[in-house]
Formats: sequence, structure tokens, C-alpha cells
Amino acid sequence: MSREIRITPSILNADFSRLQEEISKIASVSDLLHLDVMDNVFVPNFTFDFDSASKIIKESILEVDAHLMVADVDQIAPTYAEAGCASVTIHAEATKDISATLRAIRKIGARSGLALKPTTQIEDYVDFIDDVDMFLIMTVEPGFGGQKFMVDMMSKVSRTRAIIGSRPIWLQVDGGISTETIEIAADAGADTFVAGSAVFNASDPSAMVASLRELASKS
Ligand code: DX5
Ligand code: ZN
Repeated sequence: MSREIRITPSILNADFSRLQEEISKIASVSDLLHLDVMDNVFVPNFTFDFDSASKIIKESILEVDAHLMVADVDQIAPTYAEAGCASVTIHAEATKDISATLRAIRKIGARSGLALKPTTQIEDYVDFIDDVDMFLIMTVEPGFGGQKFMVDMMSKVSRTRAIIGSRPIWLQVDGGISTETIEIAADAGADTFVAGSAVFNASDPSAMVASLRELASKS
């Protein structure tokens, strides 16, 4: 079965001092821009506060897929939808009210995403499936770019694909995606791929996005 493939480059490893230029390198070949928001509480790293993130969201020529790695996500997530993100993903481990927050994101008009850290099991979240537009299975511990792809997450990706069934829910993987690993993740059932260092450390980021898409489309 061939499914629609989406490549969502992460700017975590891009040059923040000339971000628009970095985004313009991949805009015409990418589906969404993956924006990693880290608060130094939920993860041991900090990227942007809301003001800096909103500026990026407003100025980006690509629509934004926000990945919120923040502790007080129930308060913060709707503000990212209001700022104009196309998709807002919350972590199951951070939210205190999954349904209410996912519904709030949707009500504002963004897609609702639910992310799971490597030790969190998909089976514990099946009851929330009707509020979810995208599952994000982390293939590294969240916090940093450039980590090694956790191949042992592929069973969780396959199980999530089976749980999704015929629902129009996207299945995203994030962490260590490269030309070496993307086919493995696509074979397990992923259709939406975050790639940070593979894209922005490449000599030709746009060609890298095209190669990743071609490899994922083979599965
Ligand atoms: C890690 C972030 C990722 C990161 C991926 O916590 O969620 O989106 O940017 O970077 P790579 O592709 O280098 O693993
Ligand atoms: Zn991410």
C-alpha cells in the first residue's frame, strides 16, 4: 500500500542567525517546518520562548509543525495554534488533560498531535484516538538533535500503524532520521518524517529532503 509521505525538516540544527535563509533552502521541497520548542524543564535544553517562536511562525514561508517539549503544555499549546501553526504536538507525559488540550488545538484550526517518549507505550493512549490528527513516536530521547536512531522503537511504530487502521491520522517519527534509517521507519508504518541534522548538515539541504522522500516512498 502506498501512502502519502511528508518530510518535515527540523530547524534545531539550522543556523538560527540566518533562519529565513535556512528555511528558504528547503521550503519548496518540504511539507511543513518542524519547530522544536524546549523549555529546559520537560527536557534539559532550551530553544525558544513564545515571542521568538511566534516571530518564526509568522515569518516562515513554510507552514509550521510545532513540537512542544514543555512542562506546562496545556496552557501553552492553544497559544501556538493561535499563533498560526498548522500542527501543534503535545507530549503525553506533559499534559494533565489530553482530550481538552487536543480539542483546544483543533478548535482553533490546527492539527492536533500527540507525542510519545521512547518509554511511553501507545496502548495507554488508544482511548484518545478520536482527538488525535497525528501521533509522533520519538525515535530518540527528546532534547537534542544529532542522536542515534532507536531502531527498537519500530515495534511501537508498527503497533501504532495497526491501531490507526483506516483513520486519516498521520504517523510521524522524530530523531535520527537519515538516508540510513528512513526506509526502516517507513517500512514500520511511518508516513511523516522529521529530519534535523541530516538536512541542515547536508551540503545541499534541498537535495537531501528529496532523497529522504524518495527513500520513504519506496516502502
Ligand atoms: C529532538 C527533536 C528533534 C530533533 C531531530 O528532541 O524533537 O526534532 O531536531 O534532530 P535529528 O534529526 O538530528 O535527530
Ligand atoms: Zn522534534
